[in-house]
Amino acid sequence: MKQIYGNYTKEDFEVWQILYKRQMGNLPTAASTAYLEGLNKVNFVEDAIPKFDETNEVLQQLTGWKLAVVPGIVPDYTFFELMSNKRFPATTWLRKMKELDYLEEPDMFHDVFAHVPLLSNQSFVDFLEALSNIGLQYVGNDYAIEILSRVYWFTVEFGLIQEEAGLRIYGAGILSSAGETKFSLSEEPPKYSFDVQVIANTPYKKNVFQDRYFVIESYEQLYNSIPEVKRILAEMVAEHEGKVVTV
Ligand SMILES: [Fe+2]
Repeated sequence: MKQIYGNYTKEDFEVWQILYKRQMGNLPTAASTAYLEGLNKVNFVEDAIPKFDETNEVLQQLTGWKLAVVPGIVPDYTFFELMSNKRFPATTWLRKMKELDYLEEPDMFHDVFAHVPLLSNQSFVDFLEALSNIGLQYVGNDYAIEILSRVYWFTVEFGLIQEEAGLRIYGAGILSSAGETKFSLSEEPPKYSFDVQVIANTPYKKNVFQDRYFVIESYEQLYNSIPEVKRILAEMVAEHEGKVVTV
């Protein structure tokens, strides 16, 4: 699949512009430094929907990653296979004007505006690639994929990072939501230090604000947690299968 730029309508450009403007009103003091630097590097602007070919050229030079156009949510195998080959699955369609704040499925504003800037950070993409390699080994094992999804969810989608200036957002699920950007950094939801064991045992809910967030200290910490993710996942899967056998 390819992005067909000529197919974007006036409404699409307006939607991109409104969402971009609104989030850029929030993100300079809310998003992580690496995200904001990445946003500059990939040259996203308010009045133009990004062209994947141009974005890919920049990403390739920075980290060797590029976007792979997908129609929507893809099967686990495809998802992990793409990312283990340094290709990030992204949709090319934009939500309609009447859906600015609520969406059933992630659109391009989420996939591209919220995810792509961090694809310029080497430790972050190394983490994504390594996590996907683990995922590939467990495709078809629903329990293992659920555990791995929790790790992905509480980091790549809803992660916070402690920076010198304060708590900042790097999770794309928050970065594409004006409401959750404010909520996640407020006093209301509890924040916990990043801990693979705890995250692996924490189920999550979709389509609502999260009721807790996990805070990393650096993207290196994420990448360095990969051996732990592998070990804990293997232990949990063995225990789970043991339980299944004895039932
Ligand atoms: Fe996402």
